[in-house]
Amino acid sequence: MKVLLTGGAGYIGTHTAIALHDQGHQVVIVDNLANASQEAVKRAEQITGTSMPFYEIDVCQIDALRRVMEATKPDAIIHFAGLKAVGESVAQPLRYYDNNLNSALSLVKVMLECDVQHLVFSSSATVYGDPERLPLTEDCRIGVGITNPYGWTKYMIEQMLRDISLAEPQLAITILRYFNPVGAHPSGLIGEDPLGIPNNLMPFVAQVAGGRRPEVQVFGNDFDTVDGTGVRDYIHVSDLAAGHVAALDHSQPGVSTYNLGSGRGTSVLELIAAFEQACGHTIPYRIVGRRAGDIDSSYCDPELARRLLGWKTEHTIEDACRDSWHWQRLNPMGYISQ
Ligand code: NAD
Ligand code: WQD
Repeated sequence: MKVLLTGGAGYIGTHTAIALHDQGHQVVIVDNLANASQEAVKRAEQITGTSMPFYEIDVCQIDALRRVMEATKPDAIIHFAGLKAVGESVAQPLRYYDNNLNSALSLVKVMLECDVQHLVFSSSATVYGDPERLPLTEDCRIGVGITNPYGWTKYMIEQMLRDISLAEPQLAITILRYFNPVGAHPSGLIGEDPLGIPNNLMPFVAQVAGGRRPEVQVFGNDFDTVDGTGVRDYIHVSDLAAGHVAALDHSQPGVSTYNLGSGRGTSVLELIAAFEQACGHTIPYRIVGRRAGDIDSSYCDPELARRLLGWKTEHTIEDACRDSWHWQRLNPMGYISQ
């Protein structure tokens, strides 16, 4: 299958491009480099020993997108493109709604024009908002307690896709709700390279371990969890990438929705301890106040994906810490330092 990855130069996109290539698929990458470096695509090419056509375009620009689709004629699209920083989305809601909603709309319009039927969409556990119950299953209510525009864009795009599917039943749409992606390719050549100060825990811990930042701030130790710190379902990015390949292999008309997570919860302090094991030294941290909008715990039941896609996670949190540390050591300043 020829698969076009929007946002394919990003963290999850590059890992998925490699997984697709390893399973015999052809890859086309589209990205406006708003939060990525073309060096990441070059590294993916180096790892796979193949060339991956790359188009620097904004997916919201429908004419440019149409030209790429007509030139490359993909069989399927994975729509990773989107802005994803939660705090930034609160400060810049218009930019987030504009980019995330319009890119999804342009894409579906051009898919219909070009008769492309298969779409995989990067959604997020954030759509569950304040979890109705744990572990989260796909039929849990969504949309109650979403606290930021980023999360609402995922919720709204999911709804748009369900509505479009009713009118265009030939479309095969898979919504993947990722839990907390972490880790890096075992080669250490590609990994997560956040712009500026990382928002997410794992890249922050990695940068403290590498000496780039002085200490981890632990956002609250009074949650209702095993040690009072927030519990999340961390999933190795290689497992997540494999989930996309499985989703395409099982793509069928209508909308299918899957949680992609490990099914296991890990607290902030447990993650720091696992990273200390991986890097071989202690990681300074300090307990500070809660971050606005954070919930106690979020983890999924990944059974539906196991049963219907034949997919399950293979990597542990220890593997993810090892691979993050490897990436951090080889690329202390990310791609830019190369
Ligand atoms: P990322 O920022 O590394 O990748 C997203 C890519 O999209 C970037 O390379 C960016 O340059 C590109 N992009 C953004 N707007 C674009 C546009 N209009 N046109 C073309 N390219 C555009 O993020 P990621 O972690 O790889 O996430 C990929 C997708 O998964 C995103 O949609 C994100 O919201 C979603 N997701 C991520 C996480 C996470 O924690 N990483 C969790 C759940 C869902
Ligand atoms: C994890 C835990 C924090 C940073 C976010 C988005 C979600 C999805 C994944 C895209 C929490 C704690 C964090 C730090 C800390 N992204 N923490 N110190 O909030 O579960 O999910 O990323 O879709 O939509 O909301 O992930 O990595 O930010 O936080 O103590 O410096 O680590 O409080 O308990 P989160 P995270």
